[in-house]
Amino acid sequence: MELIIVEDYDALSKEGYRIVEAVLKAKQDACLGLATGSTPLGLYKEMIAGYKKGLSYKKVTSYNLDEYAGLGEGDSQSYRTFMNENLFSHIDIDISNTHVPDGKNANLESACRSYNDMLAKNVRDIQILGIGVNGHIAFNEPGTDFESVTHVVELSEDTVLQNARFFDSASEVPKRAISMGIANIMEAKAVVLFASGPNKAQAVYDTVKGEISPRCPASVIRTHAHSYLIADKAAAALLQ
Ligand code: GLP
Repeated sequence: MELIIVEDYDALSKEGYRIVEAVLKAKQDACLGLATGSTPLGLYKEMIAGYKKGLSYKKVTSYNLDEYAGLGEGDSQSYRTFMNENLFSHIDIDISNTHVPDGKNANLESACRSYNDMLAKNVRDIQILGIGVNGHIAFNEPGTDFESVTHVVELSEDTVLQNARFFDSASEVPKRAISMGIANIMEAKAVVLFASGPNKAQAVYDTVKGEISPRCPASVIRTHAHSYLIADKAAAALLQ
């Protein structure tokens, strides 16, 4: 894993884009693994700026990490809506080539199986990741097996509280989600984990210096042959 420490959030987004842009330039029909949360927003702004300068996403496909149970297309807090509003509607990607787990499926287990089948057939050239304050990646909470594939997750109390900022109240945050598993994430040819801000400092420390263990799901990326952790100074503060 290559550790890249940058000054601030702006530099983190630009550094991430440098890696993503190289993939997109090398392969017009690249397959991207995308993430939600506030951290990748700067990267998405850079990707939109790249499009405005002539980079095309017409042949690109994408697979998102996760979705809340019960939410999807048309729901303001769904990860599908987040992706449409913050990236897809601003670039020339074919929306039918963008994939987010089907949180609205009445049979979540079957939604997991079909997402998993798609992932098996579509290896991501690059996987973007944020990190939870407890070290989670996607919605793989501490304790999740490194061999896990797409599954239904019971969100930890911690995560529900963290994500309440996107809802009117914590009681509105769904308690379950569909998430790519850690094995799916690790199948990508390259993995880029972003961490920004002081509240991620402990998770970054555990990811870099701790034991490689399901106790800190993000630590798994140290075992990937082509992975990056891009952290701003605040998130990297405990590493000095
Ligand atoms: C959610 C998402 C994760 C994301 C995390 C951190 O739990 N499922 O994929 O990494 O939030 O979000 P933020 O980037 O807003 O700190």
